[in-house]
Amino acid sequence: MYKLVLRPIFFLLDAEKAHYFTLNLFSFLLKFPFAKRICMSVFLVENEMLVTNLFGIKFPNKVGLAAGFDKNAKYLHELACLGFGHIEIGTVTPLPQEGNDKPRLFRLLKDKAIINRMGFNNDGMEAIVKRLKNRPKGLIVGGNIGKNKVTPNEEATSDYIKCFNALFDYVDYFTVNVSSPNTPGLRALQDKEPLMGLLNELQKINNAKSNRKPILLKIAPDLTESQLDDILEIVINTKIDGVIATNTTIDRNNLSTAETEVTTIGAGGLSGKPLSKKSTSVISYLNKKSNGSISIIGVGGIMNAIDAKEKLQSGAALVQVYTGFIYEGPALAKNI
Ligand code: FNR
Repeated sequence: MYKLVLRPIFFLLDAEKAHYFTLNLFSFLLKFPFAKRICMSVFLVENEMLVTNLFGIKFPNKVGLAAGFDKNAKYLHELACLGFGHIEIGTVTPLPQEGNDKPRLFRLLKDKAIINRMGFNNDGMEAIVKRLKNRPKGLIVGGNIGKNKVTPNEEATSDYIKCFNALFDYVDYFTVNVSSPNTPGLRALQDKEPLMGLLNELQKINNAKSNRKPILLKIAPDLTESQLDDILEIVINTKIDGVIATNTTIDRNNLSTAETEVTTIGAGGLSGKPLSKKSTSVISYLNKKSNGSISIIGVGGIMNAIDAKEKLQSGAALVQVYTGFIYEGPALAKNI
């Protein structure tokens, strides 16, 4: 039904408009009597065998919704009906920001991929905290945090701390996002020295709390092996809880979409099927090099159960989806 009827209609719209149109339509439909209950009976799978305990959290299953889909925590009640084991909101920045000029979201149909250069458009931490106060009970929510575009990298730590403190009571774990290609200079924060400084500061605040929260680091798929070695050293030294591998790629190799079309789209992060192997190889490398001692959430190009299994077999403890959800539809988590 989704791929045959709904997707072709949604795909007639501009990609960003389609995103909000679909979510608002879904939200409207769920207001009808019994709609939520019916939706949950169709898409929710509850089974003790799927439960995964990781960094002190009991996840009802291994499939989460990746950051960027519900940046502002606006649709958690609706998305909670679709069977995700967790949902990561954000990236959240201290101040609200518009993001980059539109259009900034593009579909590559032949590749089952997306290119985006959204640029951390979000309502800012205060508005998002207000919504999180009313988050669905029982849903595991991750808070993905970043810095405002206008904040220079030398002051980035203070932006991450502001978001960390603001969201602390309202999320179950944190993801430190230093890997979006769409905020100028952000990925330089993945370098050893600034990253060590940033994570140590967050850990200091975290460890002073009576109920510390797991902190994960989200990394790019475009890092070299020596950069990944640095990441491992940093994760071990700062004692953070794990890694989310990976964010979108700036690589444009091996695409079926015409080169002229890809060039016309321009800058941004590529996600979906063409990212799959690249992110799996990052997971595999981190897992082997650390002898399985690091908790990894695998994300990148998961379109079906086989892709998810590949990530899990490469060392991921949980997986997340985003682009696969757009192409494959609302039953993706259940099918996986
Ligand atoms: C993203 N992603 C993302 N990641 C992040 O940490 N913060 C963010 O704000 C966003 N925003 C965002 C917007 C859009 C439109 C897309 C497509 C993606 C990256 C996302 O969480 C995920 O890491 C990648 O998309 C790879 O997974 P998929 O899409 O291949 O399953």
